[in-house]
Amino acid sequence: MAILVPGGAGYIGSHTVYALIDQGEDVVVVDNMQTGHRAAVHPGARLWEGDIRHEAFLDELFVKEKIDAVIHFAANSLVGESVQKPLDYYDNNLYGTMVLLRCMAKHDVDKIVFSSTAATYGNPDSVPILESAPTRPANPYGETKLAMEAMMKWVSAASRLRYVSLRYFNACGALEGGAIGEDHRNETHLIPIVLQVANGTRPEVTIFGNDYNTPDGTCVRDYIHVMDLAQAHLLALKHLRNGGKNEIINLGNGVGFSVKEVVDTCRSVTGKDIRAVTGPRRPGDPDQLVASSLRAQEVLGFSAGMPRLDDIVASAWEWHRSHPRGFDS
Ligand code: UFG
Repeated sequence: MAILVPGGAGYIGSHTVYALIDQGEDVVVVDNMQTGHRAAVHPGARLWEGDIRHEAFLDELFVKEKIDAVIHFAANSLVGESVQKPLDYYDNNLYGTMVLLRCMAKHDVDKIVFSSTAATYGNPDSVPILESAPTRPANPYGETKLAMEAMMKWVSAASRLRYVSLRYFNACGALEGGAIGEDHRNETHLIPIVLQVANGTRPEVTIFGNDYNTPDGTCVRDYIHVMDLAQAHLLALKHLRNGGKNEIINLGNGVGFSVKEVVDTCRSVTGKDIRAVTGPRRPGDPDQLVASSLRAQEVLGFSAGMPRLDDIVASAWEWHRSHPRGFDS
């Protein structure tokens, strides 16, 4: 039986597909290529190109493929864009998940690992953030992800469905060897932007605000390698296959780095003089987001293989140096 990966052509989805295939799993990817890349899909996976909101299409997939479990990445995931276009997020994220869960129920598929986010917490009262912390999303992206979690909770209460929701902090890095990496069109994420300055495709990085309530005034985030996230999905799948119960689990390294520290790390890893200027705050950015990763250790037996920021940046740099135009390189 196969693992269905909606969003398997996107950044975290495509890296997880590589990890699944490496473990000997049979993988079916479904992706509408809105933000995904065909070149990111592992050649050993079967690609169904289409939209999870299209129920007849998804039904046909569930009839033709024998699906054991779903690892669900298909969603719009940009905080800033979600504030501008909230209904796009409700449509793709919430409605898409509703259709997916309905098809899973129709075809007796009862296990789902879900791609959630630290954005469900909003501005936390304290760090590190426990899974029991209040959830007060500060944008439609986090709000829709929280509502998707609630949808799974209620469907699970009414059926055999079981889920693990993984709340990622800041994903970064690339698959070793350079086959795939991070390539968002209109990149908004810090590490790719800084490394695009290093590879000469961007003149400078703007540091969004230096008056936050943090040691150096710039925002603090918890950066985790994308292949560590991928491994956590495999552990979550194992948990569900072993009959484990529903879980919500943070995924971070439990250590925070400021924007300035990230820029400095990129300078030392690349050996490039990366130009950085300070600009105004970006709306909706919390001062600090750092995960408590205890639950991931306790429930899933997770431990990060690449916890150091300089190693993570070196991994991302391998991709950005060799692919200055991403998958078009
Ligand atoms: N930043 C800059 N300059 C840039 C880009 C980013 O200073 O050009 C700063 C941001 O203001 C923020 C930090 O770098 O303080 C990290 O920003 P990212 O955009 O890389 O990541 P976010 O923390 O905003 O978002 C990430 C994921 C989201 C998720 C969120 C959860 O991309 O999907 O973590 O907190 F919702």
